[in-house]
Amino acid sequence: MFYNRKAELEKLEKIYAHPGSTFVVIYGRRRVGKTALVREFLKNKLGLYFFVGEKDEAMLIEEYLKEIENVLGEHFPSYFTPRFSSLEELFEFLLDFSKEQKLIVVFDEFQNFRSVKPSFFSSLQKLWDMKNEANLILIAVGSYVGMMKRIFMDNKEPLFGRVDEWIKLRPFDFWTAYDFVNTFANVPPNHFVELYSALGGMPRYLLYLKRYYTGNVAETLNNLFFDEFAPLREEGLNTLKLEFGRFYRSYFSILEAVSLGYATPKEISDKTGLKLLTVGKYLSELTNHYEYLRREVPVTEDPRKTRKVSYRVADEFFNFWFRFVYHNYTYLEEGNLDLVLDDLERNFPAFVGKTYERIAFEFVKRINLGFKPLRVGSWWHKGEEIDVVAYNRENIALFEVKWSDLRKIDVSRILRNLKRKSKLLPLTGSLRLGVIARTIEDKEHFLENGFLVFDLEDLMMKKKEC
Ligand SMILES: Nc1ncnc2c1ncn2[C@@H]1O[C@H](COP(=O)(O)OP(=O)(O)OP(=O)(O)O)[C@@H](O)[C@H]1O
Ligand SMILES: [Mg+2]
Repeated sequence: MFYNRKAELEKLEKIYAHPGSTFVVIYGRRRVGKTALVREFLKNKLGLYFFVGEKDEAMLIEEYLKEIENVLGEHFPSYFTPRFSSLEELFEFLLDFSKEQKLIVVFDEFQNFRSVKPSFFSSLQKLWDMKNEANLILIAVGSYVGMMKRIFMDNKEPLFGRVDEWIKLRPFDFWTAYDFVNTFANVPPNHFVELYSALGGMPRYLLYLKRYYTGNVAETLNNLFFDEFAPLREEGLNTLKLEFGRFYRSYFSILEAVSLGYATPKEISDKTGLKLLTVGKYLSELTNHYEYLRREVPVTEDPRKTRKVSYRVADEFFNFWFRFVYHNYTYLEEGNLDLVLDDLERNFPAFVGKTYERIAFEFVKRINLGFKPLRVGSWWHKGEEIDVVAYNRENIALFEVKWSDLRKIDVSRILRNLKRKSKLLPLTGSLRLGVIARTIEDKEHFLENGFLVFDLEDLMMKKKEC
């Protein structure tokens, strides 16, 4: 059953309601749910779904002709049978058809035209520029973010500047992912935070929990990622190798280093053995072009000017896959599963802690702090760190985030330390301190004393209010 994607469907409906033609691009990483989204949108509408397989043009035409006859057949006069000798003819026919009746045309895996018929991009541009009275919603769907951007955003490419609407499909956020999973499995919140740290908000991976969730997180991860028959063991390789092409090894080394916590260009260069200049180039591509890395700066710094930059893998799934699967490939290949499980046991809790921090950012953005923050992020300077800082001109709220069960005495210690660190911040304003943990002993006591303390239960509630 199709779940959510309300904002994206609303946006598509709005585009559909708009008179005339629109060129839409839907892009997003593999398995994120692009095909499912367009299929849902096409329901009860006059629309054609074409998958751009890597085949001959003639074979594609044959396939597309079937779809055209199925969907549009009843609109043709009985003596008419469409025939096309090229993709151009086929598309021109559809443009003409749409002059009579609004039509949606989807090309899924659009970037594959590059190998099927590279000249199609420029003929499509010409046809599109002459569309006049057509009423066609053209949707190009693509998985390889880098390739899609090149096709439409490079000013030397024919389709540059033709796209009217871009929809980047992202994984479900933490709360939507939790609700989604609980439509088919019974996963308690504390297990879900841990599983989300490995699967992210990817509908397809979350669906595996239906079959693979055993009630024990380590066991579930083993069955999903490490075991000889684990469905996600090769997934990172399968979904990224094509994107990076020939040089994928260097990109993979960098992603592995970042997933291990090497966060600055210097650290990454030392770890991978790649030259600093090369690392810089790859980091910039991985961040801006491919969007697999996220560039973070201390929340009080100007992101354009500061040199205090740190990189993170943008997606929970890839972060986990590089950290625990790719990093342990040799062990996995040799069948040394024990060593991998040992690594998981020792390092997974801290890894989840980092994910919990990211969830906490989203949570802090959603709650009422008593003021509207201008920025929310983390802060670091010379070995000192504050997990979450939210501030505006007059107010500051600081949080320490812990993926653990805190006793009263731990919380007091954390708050004292936070108070000390607050003096290091280059900010002024009225200050509030807080802790976000899995559970907190005697939470009421701290709340009564004006502290912002939240546990997992509070975090989970937040979905209901939005
Ligand atoms: N909104 C959703 N609700 C329920 N299931 C979904 C949703 N989105 C995706 N899925 C499921 O996740 C799986 C992957 O989705 P889909 O094939 O649409 O992804 P994709 O982005 O097209 O991936 P690919 O790059 O592999 O083509 C499908 O099996 C689909 O059933
Ligand atoms: Mg697809």
